[in-house]
Amino acid sequence: MRLVILDDYDAASEWAAKYVRNRIHKFKPGPEKYFVLGLPTGSTPLGMYKKLIEFHQQGKLSFKYVKTFNMDEYVGIPSDHPESYHYYMYENFFKHIDIDPANAHLLDGNAPDLVKECDSFEKRITDAGGVHLFIGGIGPDGHIAFNEPGSSLVSRTRVKSLAVDTIQANARFFGGDVNKVPKMALTVGVGTVMDADEVMILITGVSKAFALYKAIEEGISHMWTVSTFQQHPKALFVCDEDATLELRVKTVKYFKGLMHVHNQEVQD
Ligand code: PGA
Repeated sequence: MRLVILDDYDAASEWAAKYVRNRIHKFKPGPEKYFVLGLPTGSTPLGMYKKLIEFHQQGKLSFKYVKTFNMDEYVGIPSDHPESYHYYMYENFFKHIDIDPANAHLLDGNAPDLVKECDSFEKRITDAGGVHLFIGGIGPDGHIAFNEPGSSLVSRTRVKSLAVDTIQANARFFGGDVNKVPKMALTVGVGTVMDADEVMILITGVSKAFALYKAIEEGISHMWTVSTFQQHPKALFVCDEDATLELRVKTVKYFKGLMHVHNQEVQD
């Protein structure tokens, strides 16, 4: 497991974007060989998406031979609803890059048979050859996608009823009305993310500091689902200084001492 500590949110976002860019370049994708990315929504990855768009606009990065799979989607809100993850992805990323919309996969929260939709999403990932790099954010309770505390650490893509806390936290996006917040979502499982060749988790801000501590300094627990990546052969946590506030000084010092190695991964 690697922990990359940057000064602030902007630096962490830029580092993550450069990492993705270099991974894609190194893979040399083409018509016979697509690079497969797993993608998150939320406020944390916005800075990374912005940078990736910049690289694309500067002619330094193409998504022509990239396939994407998003982590989750609400059930029962139209895909053009401003809070749907379809809308988020289109507005914040896809409309600015050269990805073929047929290669940008999102779970359909309005599918007539939701279980079938989840099973077919898993199959689409398998048919694409699996995810090369799964990028995720986490919640302050250590959730990854909608795998909230208590979720099985071997879970697959499925329908989830959202915890009351999550519904209340999300009410701010629905005019403060909890009744308007979807009560269910479709989400990849922890096992789905674990199957990726590589996992990169973005963690920024003091509100995530306790979750980062639980993720890397304590044992694996289904009450902090992100902690499961301790067992992933290639897990990378990218964070800012604020997110390290609950870590031991020794941990921070150890990983900062390796930054010269990590930075080789993001060279221009
Ligand atoms: P955030 O959400 O990036 O908006 O903090 C992350 C999450 O809850 O998974």
